[in-house]
Amino acid sequence: MWKPAERIKYTAVEDDWPNAETAAQSQLFRPLDVGPMRLEQRTWIPAMVPWRSNEEGEVTEDVLQWYQRFAEGKPGAIVVEATGIRDIPSGPLLRIGDDRYIAGLRKLADAVREASGGQTRLLIQLIDFLTIRRRPEREKFLQRFLTITDAHRAALELGDADDAGVRERLLGLDDEALQRVLSPKEWEDLNHGYRERVTDTHIPVIAELPKRLPQLFSDAARRAEQAGFDGVELHYAHAYTMASFLSATNIRDDGYGGARENRVKLPLEVYQAVRAATSGQFAVGCRYLSDEIIEGGNRVDDACYFAERFATAGMDFLSLSRGGKFDDAKQPKVGWAAYPYTGRSGYECMPSYISDEQGPFGRNISPVAQIRAHLQAHNLNTPVILAGGIYSFKQAEQLLQDDKADIVGFARQALADPDWFEKVRSGCGEEVIICRYSNYCEGLDQKHKQVTCELWDREQLDEPGIRKTEDGKRRMVAPRWRR
Ligand SMILES: Cc1cc2nc3c(=O)[nH]c(=O)nc-3n(C[C@H](O)[C@H](O)[C@H](O)COP(=O)(O)O)c2cc1C
Ligand code: SF4
Repeated sequence: MWKPAERIKYTAVEDDWPNAETAAQSQLFRPLDVGPMRLEQRTWIPAMVPWRSNEEGEVTEDVLQWYQRFAEGKPGAIVVEATGIRDIPSGPLLRIGDDRYIAGLRKLADAVREASGGQTRLLIQLIDFLTIRRRPEREKFLQRFLTITDAHRAALELGDADDAGVRERLLGLDDEALQRVLSPKEWEDLNHGYRERVTDTHIPVIAELPKRLPQLFSDAARRAEQAGFDGVELHYAHAYTMASFLSATNIRDDGYGGARENRVKLPLEVYQAVRAATSGQFAVGCRYLSDEIIEGGNRVDDACYFAERFATAGMDFLSLSRGGKFDDAKQPKVGWAAYPYTGRSGYECMPSYISDEQGPFGRNISPVAQIRAHLQAHNLNTPVILAGGIYSFKQAEQLLQDDKADIVGFARQALADPDWFEKVRSGCGEEVIICRYSNYCEGLDQKHKQVTCELWDREQLDEPGIRKTEDGKRRMVAPRWRR
């Protein structure tokens, strides 16, 4: 992962936890209505992909245990990982692209309700993403994947040579000469792997996204409601299709790109379709970026504009992340796909303990506070969720008291200790296992390996009946908290 040049090391510490009485009087542990959904406390576990599903994208026993474990900590809400809305093979990514997924998802909703004693609301994050392929071997790319065109023949002065002849000449070129012959897109496909963009409107399925996506998202949301979820979070963040429509880099010329009001058009149409397909008892909101971090990307003023449009349209909540883009991702190794959390924007999304002067804690606070203030100035009270490097009660409570956010998201901190919420609420904060922000978990995610936390995955491996990772070396969920 990219790291700031300063390389300053930080340790997350907290030695001033509240007693049960102080916690009970805090804003953090006070209920809040989020559209039709009542949160028992203002805490939220944002979506995290743990790679617990199977090739069919189903709710497996491992998926159930993963979310049960979080629910035992009784946070205000859990957002289930990014879940694919299309009925297409997507590796072991959870899916909701067909009615056959409803039964499994219902089990998941029931399991969370039971494990939290009904204290935790459950949402699911709905994602669409475009095709991305692994970085190919040079020889394979030039011999098989590259489509030979007259532009190559002209650049190589090969007249009307057949494809095999052109390939043979390309194979003999050094990198500098090859780059001159290939188009910039072909050069990128060779060095980073083929990746579709929302601006590739010459590809019919990309051109037709605005026609297809509202239906795909609304069908998925209807299934989530049928399965017993309390709501959906539309994934408009990071490197995926909807974030790419919002992005300042979206220059589509079909009314869905260019100016901000065009870029927000499809996200609003998707939202309207989802609203129309679900009942008034079902919460609908989105996750998007307070700042894309990339060159030429959206800044906080764009995010304020989008917040106003989303809130005016009637969304029940806005969850803010930042960065996490392909645009500045590192070149992947041959045989690997690009991963959107390897560049500077990836660092801002999941800041690690090796940081700069500002440090890894709460880097999203100031932009989110600005977005929330913008909403309030327009008399819009849509709850805003803030996440990024937050692990302590004091910090979370202060954010709420200072009106910087309405709900606090704890992603890696909840992964490090799913009992954070119950421990702090009951005055046992000293027992919290604090996240190191090492990003060991994120490294596993990058390799599509089952995500665990280094602070507990080798603990009590001899505990009877526990499930372990495929190599048998790590436990899959955190050990139980024994009060
Ligand atoms: C293993 C892992 C998987 C993640 N998967 C998702 C995801 O599916 N959707 C999403 O919006 N964010 C995802 N994130 C980002 C987190 O939701 C969160 O925004 C980020 O970790 C910063 O918050 P934190 O500092 O509290 O961890 C993931 C993070 C991690 C560590
Ligand atoms: S592995 Fe554990 S300690 Fe390290 S960042 Fe992830 S949750 Fe935190």
